[in-house]
Amino acid sequence: MHKDIQEILFTEEEIQLKVKELGKQITADYAGRNLLVICVLKGAFIFMADLVKAMDIPLEIDFMAVSSYGVTTKSSGVVKIIKDLDIPVEGRDVMIVEDIIDSGLTLSYLIDVLERRNALSIAVVTLFDKPARRTVDLEPDYKGYTLPDAFVVGYGLDYAEKYRNLPYIGILKEKVYSN
Ligand code: PRP
Ligand code: MN
Ligand code: MG
Repeated sequence: MHKDIQEILFTEEEIQLKVKELGKQITADYAGRNLLVICVLKGAFIFMADLVKAMDIPLEIDFMAVSSYGVTTKSSGVVKIIKDLDIPVEGRDVMIVEDIIDSGLTLSYLIDVLERRNALSIAVVTLFDKPARRTVDLEPDYKGYTLPDAFVVGYGLDYAEKYRNLPYIGILKEKVYSN
């Protein structure tokens, strides 16, 4: 285990099984459709890669990078598009792939953007959910795990851009972010 990790919440093996399950479910629900799968950078990149390998349907993938204007404005819901999609969403069934939903502000902004661009349908899949921290009313269509309100990293999730490469999800030791 990494020296900055206090406890592993979900092992690599557990996560891989869960992602395969989600992929199967989505495959069944979207049979016969041509899905546009949208990865929200950066956190969702590992989940996205594993998930699409577990989806046995015709699909296209695209990437979007967003950022809040800062801690204070994040709570006001102000999000900025850093990298936009290349593929038009008009008339498409789209699925937004997130690593984690916290306040829900990033996602509610993205859903709003895709609605205004006339997507045919919009679904959300997240591997992790922290419903305790939600400030907007938002429920994912597909979800892997519900997390406690702890500082977690790994499998795409960072603290100050680090730990994204850990293959498991762990709680970060408090001393790492407290000084
Ligand atoms: C994290 C996470 C989600 C978002 C969830 O991204 O990957 O995208 O925050 O928080 P919210 O529900 O409160 O909006 P972050 O902004 O840290 O960027 P990153 O994906 O590049 O790490
Ligand atoms: Mn993110
Ligand atoms: Mg982050």
